[in-house]
Amino acid sequence: MPTPKVWINGRVVPSEQAVVSVHDRAFRSGEGVFETLRIYGSHPFRAGAHVERAVAGAAAIGLRLDPEVLHRGLREVVAANGDVHAGADSVVRLTASAGEIDPDSYFPGAPASGGGGQPTVVATSHRLRVDASLTERGVRAVCVPLARELPEVKAVSYLVALTARRHAAAHDVEEALLTSPEGTVLEAASANLAVVTGDVLATPPVGSGLLAGVTRAVVLEVAHRAGLRVEQRALHRDELHRCDEAVLTASTREIVPLVEVDGRPVGSGRPGPAAARLLDAYHEEVERERRDGGVTRSTGV
Ligand SMILES: Cc1ncc(COP(=O)(O)O)c(C=O)c1O
Repeated sequence: MPTPKVWINGRVVPSEQAVVSVHDRAFRSGEGVFETLRIYGSHPFRAGAHVERAVAGAAAIGLRLDPEVLHRGLREVVAANGDVHAGADSVVRLTASAGEIDPDSYFPGAPASGGGGQPTVVATSHRLRVDASLTERGVRAVCVPLARELPEVKAVSYLVALTARRHAAAHDVEEALLTSPEGTVLEAASANLAVVTGDVLATPPVGSGLLAGVTRAVVLEVAHRAGLRVEQRALHRDELHRCDEAVLTASTREIVPLVEVDGRPVGSGRPGPAAARLLDAYHEEVERERRDGGVTRSTGV
């Protein structure tokens, strides 16, 4: 397959012509946001919610983004890379940075984000690279004492996630749970977390120091179809060993059972029925949105 084309600042170009300045603020200081959307047979799922989150996250770091530009990049990169998106599940990454800066005027603390310079906006297409067998086998995780900076922003700077992932790899497991000194678990390195006990699905609330995951919001919407009531409250790491099941949620991975934390089983230590029901309900929602078309806006949960 040829290298996918790239959408950059309004133009579709061959990948090697998609060039960002060395003075770009995302390169200089990590000032930027991104979104990873799963594309189901050319349909970007929950595009409205992803774009809304990008615009809100950008605003939180002083960067004004036009949602229409992000929607256009998404549409045009999918259209330009039909061979990537047709037939197989795939991914679009939207990245927006605060743009180029005059290197002489830059100093940390300057109230300069988004002031003057045009944002750099890029959309890229990829085939989905997720180990689907993890949905059947479940993933294992370790708790790591790390917290994300500005957790409500899906920032280009991914140092915490990558450091947490390295920690996981060193323990020969697939995931890392970001855990406070008091033992509160908020989310995984790049996924949200929920536990199921009886007929209750519990997940930490937005505003408690996590990313408001788009998949998390869909799970909360469809949980009742899986026979579950929803509670939004803090989770402690000990609860992971008392609950029946736990799941991780993220756009590319959908809903993945979490079967082991810190070397001890979660529930039975195997993927459970609630995770399977949630995944069915999630897929129904994907199909409903594809059928009905249109862009679903975020529900804000
Ligand atoms: C820290 C973090 N939490 C949660 C998520 C899940 O978000 P979403 O469901 O919108 O993909 C991600 C996605 O990359 C993430 O980076």
